[in-house]
Amino acid sequence: MGVELSAVAVTGGIFTILAVWLLISERYLAHYGTCVISVNGGSTVFEQQGGSTLLTALYDNKVFIPSACGGKGSCGYCKCTVINGGGPVLPTETPFFTRTEMRSGVRLACQVKIKEDIEIQIPEELLAVKEYTATVALIRELTYDIKEINLDLIEPEEVSHRPGQYIQIQAPSPEGHVFRAYSISSPVYENNKVQLIVRLVPGGIASTYIHSLTEKDEVLFTGPYGEFRLIEDPEVEVVCVGGGAGMAPIVNIIYSIYHQWPERKCSLFFGCRTTRDVFYLDRFMALEKEYPNFKVIYALSDPLQEDEKWAGDTGFIHLSVEKHLQPNPRCQAFLCGPPPMIEAVTEVLKGKKLKDENIFYDKF
Ligand SMILES: Cc1cc2nc3c(=O)[nH]c(=O)nc-3n(C[C@H](O)[C@H](O)[C@H](O)COP(=O)(O)OP(=O)(O)OC[C@H]3O[C@@H](n4cnc5c(N)ncnc54)[C@H](O)[C@@H]3O)c2cc1C
Ligand code: FES
Repeated sequence: MGVELSAVAVTGGIFTILAVWLLISERYLAHYGTCVISVNGGSTVFEQQGGSTLLTALYDNKVFIPSACGGKGSCGYCKCTVINGGGPVLPTETPFFTRTEMRSGVRLACQVKIKEDIEIQIPEELLAVKEYTATVALIRELTYDIKEINLDLIEPEEVSHRPGQYIQIQAPSPEGHVFRAYSISSPVYENNKVQLIVRLVPGGIASTYIHSLTEKDEVLFTGPYGEFRLIEDPEVEVVCVGGGAGMAPIVNIIYSIYHQWPERKCSLFFGCRTTRDVFYLDRFMALEKEYPNFKVIYALSDPLQEDEKWAGDTGFIHLSVEKHLQPNPRCQAFLCGPPPMIEAVTEVLKGKKLKDENIFYDKF
């Protein structure tokens, strides 16, 4: 028994030493030389010193793909199809993939380490993503923890985006720069500026940086990103449901819709805890008067005593959707807010005959 135990201990020790040695040599001694990265059948080709991640290499060479968590492997946004090279799929990646994606070579670019030549495929529209510099033109406090940030573009001077898309802003951090995703709240026809609605996450790197910005500060971002596509048919009704900073893509969608289709049917459901979280209600009530097919409903989930004059709905926002929305299979929905809200609203919308493929969401 004693001999068996010491054999196990010795073997365990050898494996530990080997693992540590592998880690050290990977980090400090491994030199993979210069590797060639080819994107979309050679439409972009560049050389990169081995050892960095594919995501870093792409950014260094101005190929911008979404990376909402800044390369931590936790958002699943940095997907690309690796045709050659890239090594085996890591266990950190598999939770983000469907079976079809696994079979077709989809990888998380932030988890692929460059050790050899790599050939990848990304959606063509990502090759049009650009890097922008802008200055802060105006900041407005919308609630105790949400600010509206208005940016004037400097270079390039214009951005072309679709309703519901987002940018990735660069924020300084002790470990270098990080990128975080923020939806564009300005409508698509205002293409020389970008407006953001940002909630301060306590201790959060990018949201603290954005909340500390003052007028005339310069910011850097890449974009636009995002797969949401508004159906270009004014007969298709649109329903938007949000909470908190989830207002950002929604306000863009609504104003872009009424700029193009003044008769289109559209409703906004916005969930707040108390009246302290309410913003933009006046402007949406004015929009309701201007466009008779627009409806706005705000609901308070935890009204305080001071909210006794509140004349709107109370309760969770999915209950308001259940109450006010008529069933309609020709309806497209965009949801933006915390995951539990999105899950509850999705169930209600399915009950209202909306098709899965017409329900889009951004969870944050
Ligand atoms: C497609 C997309 C669009 C987005 N659009 C917007 C937008 O328009 N406005 C906006 O305010 N945010 C938006 N976000 C969220 C935003 O990208 C950041 O995740 C958020 O601002 C936190 O970043 P941070 O660097 O401040 O916090 P981090 O430094 O990344 O995180 C600090 C801590 O807070 C936790 N944390 C991170 N995010 C949240 C959160 N949302 N709530 C609570 N805790 C959190 C982390 O787990 C960590 O413990 C969007 C996200 C995505 C994916
Ligand atoms: S950047 Fe978030 S998973 Fe890769």
